[in-house]
Formats: sequence, C-alpha cells, structure tokens
Amino acid sequence: MKCLCKLLLLCLLLKKVCLISTNDNVEFSEVWGPGLKPDQIVMPARYFFIKLAHNPSNKSDISKSKLLVEIDGESKNRKHCRVWTNVLDRNDGSFIVRYKLYEFCSSLKISIRYDNKHLADSPYVINEQILSDDCNCPTQKIEEVLNNWECGPVPDLIKTSLDEFGPIDWNIKRKSVIKKFDQPYSVSLCHYVVKNNNIYRKCYGKHVGFNMFVDNILLSLTRKTILPDIEFFSNLGDWPLSARNLNEKYPIFSWCGSTDSYDIILPTYDITESTLENMGRVSLDILSVQGNSNIEWENRIPRLFWRGRDSNKYRLELIKIARNNPDLFNASLTNFFFYKDEEEIYGPKAEYVSFFKFFDYKYQLGIDGTVAAYRMPYLLAGGSVLFKPASKYYEYFYKDLKPYVHYIPVKEDISDIVEKIKWAIDHDEEAKAIAENSRRFINEHLLPKNIFCYHMHMFNEFSKVLTSRVQVLEGMEAVKQKTVVNCDCNIKKDEL
Ligand SMILES: *[C@@H]1O[C@H](CO)[C@@H](O)[C@H](O)[C@H]1NC(C)=O
Ligand SMILES: *[C@@H]1O[C@H](CO)[C@@H](O)[C@H](O)[C@H]1NC(C)=O
Repeated sequence: MKCLCKLLLLCLLLKKVCLISTNDNVEFSEVWGPGLKPDQIVMPARYFFIKLAHNPSNKSDISKSKLLVEIDGESKNRKHCRVWTNVLDRNDGSFIVRYKLYEFCSSLKISIRYDNKHLADSPYVINEQILSDDCNCPTQKIEEVLNNWECGPVPDLIKTSLDEFGPIDWNIKRKSVIKKFDQPYSVSLCHYVVKNNNIYRKCYGKHVGFNMFVDNILLSLTRKTILPDIEFFSNLGDWPLSARNLNEKYPIFSWCGSTDSYDIILPTYDITESTLENMGRVSLDILSVQGNSNIEWENRIPRLFWRGRDSNKYRLELIKIARNNPDLFNASLTNFFFYKDEEEIYGPKAEYVSFFKFFDYKYQLGIDGTVAAYRMPYLLAGGSVLFKPASKYYEYFYKDLKPYVHYIPVKEDISDIVEKIKWAIDHDEEAKAIAENSRRFINEHLLPKNIFCYHMHMFNEFSKVLTSRVQVLEGMEAVKQKTVVNCDCNIKKDEL
C-alpha cells in the first residue's frame, strides 16, 4: 500500500516536470466549483469549471477535442452507477462540466485530462457516498449545510428586506394578510408552513398552479437539509402585493419587487426552476446559455436583437424605433395578447428563434414585460452587452448591478436607445468589457449553488424574525415528495 502511494507521488512529480519541459501541455490550468465536492453538495446537476491556457493571455490554441472528462462511480452493488456528463465549451479557453447522478453512488472518480495528461488535482476521488438529488436525506441542520456549501454570510439584501418588518407575529398578522389578499380574481397567494421539515400549504385565488414552483424548491431543500420551522405567504402573481401606500406592511414573498412595495424578494420561479431542472426538463439555464452562446465578440452582429410578446407599451415603441433604424436592430414581437388591436401595425408575429441565437448579436435588451423580464440573468450571461431601460420593477439581484459596468442604461421609454447603441458601436472595447463583466457577475452570484444558498439563507433568517409558534393550520394540505428513492442517508465511510 505504502509503495503504491510513493509511486503515485513520483508520477505526480514527474508530471509537473513534464508540464514545464514540453511545449504541448497546458501549463496554466484551473479547476474549481461545487461539483468537486459531490459528497457534501447535493444538486440536481452538479457542475465545475475548467480553465485552460498555455499562456494565460493566449486562449486560441486550446482545442476541445483534447479535453477528456470522465466521471465514473460505483453503485452499492459494485457496478457503475449511472452518471450523465455534459461538457460546455465557452470558447474562451474555459469549460463548464455538468453531471447528473441517476442513482446514489458509493464512490466517485472525476478525471480531467488534456492531451492525455491530468489537470490540476485530477483525478478527484471521492470515497464517500454520493447522493443523487432525489435522495430524501435531510440529516443536517441548515447551518451545517450553509457551511458545507460555502454559502458565505447572509446577503445584505436579505437583512435589509427583513429589517423593514422587525419581529413578525403571525398570530396578529396572518388574519390581516388573508383578509387583504383573499381576492380570488386578482390575487394568487399561498400560505405555507414548514413544520418538522414537512411542508403544508393553503392557497387563495383562482390561478394557483404556480404553487408548484414554491413546492419544488421547498421539496428540494427539505431533501437536503432540515429547514427551520417557518410560516410564510408566497405571492404567485406578477405584481408585488405589499404596496407602500397601504396602511399596513405585509411580509409577503414575491418574485418581483418594485420601488413602491415592501414585498420580500426571492429568486424568480424561472431561474429557480432552471436550477432544479438543470440537465432535466429545462434546457435554458445559466450554464447552458454560456456553452451555447459562445461566438466570439468580434464575430457577433453589431445590432440589437430582441424577441418577445406585447406585454408592455414600450415594447411596441421598440418595434417602431427598430423599423426606423433597420441597420441597428433586429426586433420583432412574437405574440399579441395585450395589444391585439395593434397587430396590424406592429405585426406580423415573428417566428420562434432559439434563445441561444439571440447571442449571434452584440446588443441585447432587458425591457420589462408586465413586470421585470425574468430572462435578465440569461441575457447577462450570454456574452453580449445588455441595454437596460430604467424601471421601478426589479429582481432580487438587480441592486448589485452597476450602469456602464454590467449594463448600458437607457431611459424607461427607450427614447435614447438609438443614441446608446451608437455609443456602443463607437466604444466597442468598452462594450465588450461590459459584456464580460456581466457574465462574470452572473458566475459569481447567480449560479445554481447561489440560488440554493439564497433560499436557504432567506428561510433561515425569516425563521429568526418569527415570534409566533409555527403550527400546521386548519385547511392546509401536505405537500409530499413525489418519488421515494432508496438511499443510504448519512453513512460515512469512516463510521463503518
Ligand atoms: C497564441 O497561440 C497560437 C498557437 O499556439 C500562436 O499561433 C499565436 O501566435 C499565439 N498568440 C500570442 C499572442 O501569443
Ligand atoms: C433577423 O433575425 C432573424 C432570426 O435570426 C433572421 O431570420 C432575419 O434574417 C434577421 N433580419 C435581418 C434583416 O437581418
């Protein structure tokens, strides 16, 4: 056993020497990401990043065909466990590796080779049980999980939005929320209780199908951790509910905030679902968009590309401006619903274009629909530069975005959009830098891990401001795990 170790060490040393002495090796490589800790971080799709370079400033000599990523595990009965691996090429010398476990594995080996030579600390051998995402194994308290996942401190945004309310006593507040918002035709609201890590809810409204999105993230979290007991209301509609001009503040979770409301903002159902369904039902997510929008900046068309429906009058305005400036735009409406009468003027409806094709163009537009457009994270990650009209609506992360750093600001009525596009054409280097910054921002703040962390932090902090005892209330139904999978929860190798 000892000999083998020494031999291995020698090999590793030799490899280092080789790396420096031959020309055809990748000398500057980095590998990082939560997918390298699969025993601790359980996600639907695990992922990590690879950056390759012979010379940190030269990416042009990297070839995807020389990169070989193998992820192999053992199942309990000593067979290969089922793992699906997907490598996304960002075409800048860096790659995203995603993999999905279809069963629980008793060990896993991740090997990453370029030109047949291992990179960084490859092979990564994890001799612990690796849970698949559908394993129902809440064995750790949320603090432990936040720590293992390296979620970092509680985001300021969570603190400030909860400080707005101070301590919350649902025994007082509950009745007034229901009285105010039980309006079946205009409001869709669900009342949730998580008690002993079980989920219960009662919904108010005619259209409450979107409760599946809230259910899904709660079900996912309660498979991974023991959530603290909480009681909360979740708004399933577009518009925030707790308007500032009402004479009471209502602590309601929403997906979209506005400058004139108090709602507590969580990541949208869109990005949350793309996190839960990564490598699953949803094909557009924050990782796939990076691998499928990888045309180099220089080869993107210097025009603003936009497709969407007529859910905002400024979107009609956009079509008007685009028609007057065909050399700067390729913009069309894809559906008429809100302004059906104007289809003759602003139509015809354009054919469907894959979202990934948007990034054949340098300039993108993050224009509101009924509220904030939930495609924002993907637009920021696609390697093009985003033009963002001013708006009172926002998603939870907008406050950290800076004009001319992460996007180019335009007026709410987009009257200055032509001027701003011309600016970008004349300042191509700056525009390119903004596009790179926005992608970096997304990779630092909006990856699947961040989406999980944000929810965990929020529910944990929210539990701390509740002063009323959390109990399952009359009329609530249980929300149960959909599949029951056999997994050995919580068995560490060294405990055997
Ligand atoms: C980058 O690498 C390629 C291929 O090895 C080489 O032809 C090119 O000259 C290099 N560029 C720079 C700026 O070093
Ligand atoms: C606009 O984009 C669509 C979809 O990619 C394309 O088919 C069409 O040719 C473009 N129009 C112009 C004028 O370039």
